[in-house]
Amino acid sequence: MNEQESNLMHRKSVSPIRMRAAAFATVVVMALAFAGDVIAQSDGQANDRINGSSDRIERLIEEMTLEEKLGQLTLQWGGEAADANPNIREKSRLAIRNEIKNGRIGAFIGAHGADYVNWMQRVAKEESRLGIPIIVGNDVIHGYHTIFPIPLAEACSWNPAIVEKAARVAATEARIAGTHWTLAPMVDIARDPRWGRIAEGAGEDPYLGGIMAAARVRGFQGKDLTAPDSVLACVKHFAAYGAAEAGRDYNPVDISEQTLRDIYLPPFKAAVDEGVGTLMTAFNEINGVPATADDFLLEQILRREWGFKGFVVSDWTSITEMVEHGYAESEAHAALLSIKAGVDMDMSALSFRDHFGDMVKTGRLSEKVVDRAVRRVLIQKERLGLFDDPFSDASKEERLLLCDEHRAAARDVARHSIVLLKNEDNLLPLRDDLTSIAVIGPLADNKPDPLGTWALTGKPKSVVPRLEDAVVTVLAGIRQRTGGAVTINYAKGCGIHEADSDELSKAIDAAQKSDVVILVVGEDRDMSGEGHCRTNLQIPPAQTALISTVYAVGKPTIVLLMNGRPLAINWISENVPALVEAWHLGTETGNAVADVLFGDFNPCGRLVTTFPRNVGQVPLYYNHKNTGRPPTSDDRFSSKYIDVHWSPLYPFGYGLSYTRFEYKNLRLSADTMPIDGRLTVKADISNAGARAGVEVVQLYVRDLVGSLTRPIRELKGFQRIAIKPGETETVTFELSANDLRFHNRKLEYVVEPGRFHVWIAPNSAEGLQGEFEVVVK
Ligand code: BGC
Repeated sequence: MNEQESNLMHRKSVSPIRMRAAAFATVVVMALAFAGDVIAQSDGQANDRINGSSDRIERLIEEMTLEEKLGQLTLQWGGEAADANPNIREKSRLAIRNEIKNGRIGAFIGAHGADYVNWMQRVAKEESRLGIPIIVGNDVIHGYHTIFPIPLAEACSWNPAIVEKAARVAATEARIAGTHWTLAPMVDIARDPRWGRIAEGAGEDPYLGGIMAAARVRGFQGKDLTAPDSVLACVKHFAAYGAAEAGRDYNPVDISEQTLRDIYLPPFKAAVDEGVGTLMTAFNEINGVPATADDFLLEQILRREWGFKGFVVSDWTSITEMVEHGYAESEAHAALLSIKAGVDMDMSALSFRDHFGDMVKTGRLSEKVVDRAVRRVLIQKERLGLFDDPFSDASKEERLLLCDEHRAAARDVARHSIVLLKNEDNLLPLRDDLTSIAVIGPLADNKPDPLGTWALTGKPKSVVPRLEDAVVTVLAGIRQRTGGAVTINYAKGCGIHEADSDELSKAIDAAQKSDVVILVVGEDRDMSGEGHCRTNLQIPPAQTALISTVYAVGKPTIVLLMNGRPLAINWISENVPALVEAWHLGTETGNAVADVLFGDFNPCGRLVTTFPRNVGQVPLYYNHKNTGRPPTSDDRFSSKYIDVHWSPLYPFGYGLSYTRFEYKNLRLSADTMPIDGRLTVKADISNAGARAGVEVVQLYVRDLVGSLTRPIRELKGFQRIAIKPGETETVTFELSANDLRFHNRKLEYVVEPGRFHVWIAPNSAEGLQGEFEVVVK
């Protein structure tokens, strides 16, 4: 099959919702049939030349052989040089040296350490024909060597400044150790906690997701990509990867274009607006088209509508996986489909390198399409300053990784990420007069699991401790905070999954001997993340048995959860007086937890993902539609279940403080808002408790009648306000038509005149409600 046939084959059936895509694709197909190479002509050389290419890059493209060009589009594993076995190490160095020397690989993943990467760069600069530097990319997802909370936790801070700082620290450590490019931020909206990768994103809301995406891009890339503390960012996975059917990783996605654009795309758009340099495709298909060959996503939306100028990398073998999808008949065909759709670099499958040589020679692929991709890659290498100085200063590596300043930042972000879910009778913070504390549970003195998913970075230098060794456990944090003044009775109680009767007896004994019990339970790091989906959201049975047995001892009990997703924790929530969501908090876990438990830090985290009562309720998210029969307790034919309440256990935006906030006096600047005007919404928030605290004040709206039905609430703003006890602060939000837009049936991005509800609220289920009308003058 030739390229025209293959394009046509994939455009045979087009669903109505892909009409715009179809229109675009039709133009492409027709032009291909007649002009042979419309992609290169329409948005190839000329545009990219204007958009950031340089004389150096253009000269290089002229000089490069086709093989060298394909090398620039090839990202390969380079991690073997860290292998413990010196024979493997040496052999692999030899192979890597040859590949770099011959210009057959221009990008590596898995390579760590300044010395190693500097060696690679020396080979590229001094031994390869054209001296083009390599780029090293790695999954620096929530920290490099100093590990920060998993992104889901970090987003619970609702604090873009500290999220940016976390990314900055990660960039500083990564760049000094030879990483130029992080494969982050992951910005996939997740409405289904069965999906293991919910841990990697910022939760379920597109507005908050956009704020966090932009903050992380700013933090990674900084103002100057040549700086030794900046890395190129890669927003991923484009797109709607989190909408996988049944919460099962890599599963198909079938959604309307409205939902795609209103819910799943905004965080990507925010990252592009922030100047993100690269973007990764997703493993999934959307409405029948694998994302890695979706020209509608990659050309129409990403480049034409949003003006993205960076390069697009496939996900790991996502190109060749299109054969398994049943979308490409061979790996060669898959490679052709993806470069023509707008993918510039192949991660790990070697498909561009293996197949494009022949295709260009036989005229099935225009070299201009290859040049377009090469240009995009070289522009980013140039932005990083790699042509002028590809080396990192190895002498600073040791000093920077896990330095005190970075650990202090990780501790601060970790304590901001903790969400207090329940605190009956102010059991927390712990009283000063305690003489003994039981610390119980398989996660209490556990070093690897608090690191969470994607804490990968090896050990670049022998003097830098392994990631695990650096972790402060909850037990260690509590011991350090109490400094010997309080007796700490520790018992593991059980394994994550394994019951142990001896351990259980020790746990009972520890509880009996203590004034108060802290149970540290939940998921290990392998229970969330890529390929780690669950159909059950409960804490494993060995631990639930531990919780109920220890609780029965009758001591005041606090459950501290560590997990990578919302869990179904009804029993704990109903019975145990205090419940703290600590997620996987990273290197400084124990110190951050101690800060919160002892009241040195007043918790201010708010959930960014709905907690269901049980797995049968999912997907469950706050910004859902109303139905014609919204649930009510007195109507059995309303939209609900017969075996569980319809509402979440804890709603989006929820979280407590050690003080109490009261909301009063909602006021709007007017009853109406001109469609091209603005509206001011204010409320007074008082601290009615005895401690200073930070409240996350949230602004929601509901469009009451739309040409398409609208969600029952949508977040449109938030402010973090520090309020002293007894004081009142006025918060002011401004709304404009831009905040009220959605994609209508014709896929126009509109605000429609009519009535809206507005809330200033502590979470998505409560708040002060007002009303206004959008009018056309
Ligand atoms: C993941 C990506 C990741 C890549 C490289 C893939 O399996 O989906 O998020 O960046 O591996 O490690």
